[in-house]
Amino acid sequence: MTELMEYKFRHGENKARLRPIARRDWEKVVGWWNDPEVKRLFDVHFVDQTFADAEKWFSRTNSPDDEKHARSFIIEVFHENNWIGVGTAEFYNERPSHKTAEFGFLIGEMKWWGQGIGTETAKKIIQYGFKTLKYHRIGAVSAAYNVRSLNALQKAGFQIEGVRKGYVWRDGEYHDQIMMSVLDL
Ligand SMILES: CC(C)(COP(=O)(O)OP(=O)(O)OC[C@H]1O[C@@H](n2cnc3c(N)ncnc32)[C@H](O)[C@@H]1OP(=O)(O)O)[C@@H](O)C(=O)NCCC(=O)NCCS
Repeated sequence: MTELMEYKFRHGENKARLRPIARRDWEKVVGWWNDPEVKRLFDVHFVDQTFADAEKWFSRTNSPDDEKHARSFIIEVFHENNWIGVGTAEFYNERPSHKTAEFGFLIGEMKWWGQGIGTETAKKIIQYGFKTLKYHRIGAVSAAYNVRSLNALQKAGFQIEGVRKGYVWRDGEYHDQIMMSVLDL
């Protein structure tokens, strides 16, 4: 199994970790995907998702014969003496011969937004992507109105490389999508 990756957030006061995602997590994840507020910001899935969609998504991002190199993780925080799942972080659209992949993250439990978990998770997973999965380039996209995501990604080391004009339809209008990357230089 992939090692659990532990790290700190909120100026070192709290602990978080990344655990490879398992089938038992999918139901919770689908609930997060379908939360209207999360869905408005998370622009990978545009329509309501089902358990079958989770199965399709995670069997693509996590191949069962490659347990040592998980691509999809549950973000857990240590809270009141327990590890509780608050979100997901993953690599998708991997292109092995080019050593590139895209990174996506979400914190489905909103009370945990804005406390530094997103930034610290992105930093940790970038390290894992470069050192363990041997990626050369990690990309990420974010709707232009998703300020928290843009900030977290940039604080973790992503640089803006372009804008897809009018790429996201939300709240009755088109919005730009910001394209970012970090390279293993
Ligand atoms: C995007 C997301 C993963 C970021 O994680 P997070 O833990 O909330 O982010 P952080 O606490 O690390 O904050 C990042 C930065 O956003 C900014 N920020 C925080 N709260 C904010 C708010 N209410 N409004 C605007 N910006 C805010 C700050 O600049 C913060 O940096 P700081 O710590 O220097 O103040 C999380 O908010 C989330 O899951 N959102 C919904 C789904 C989503 O958008 N996924 C990403 C799609 S690409």
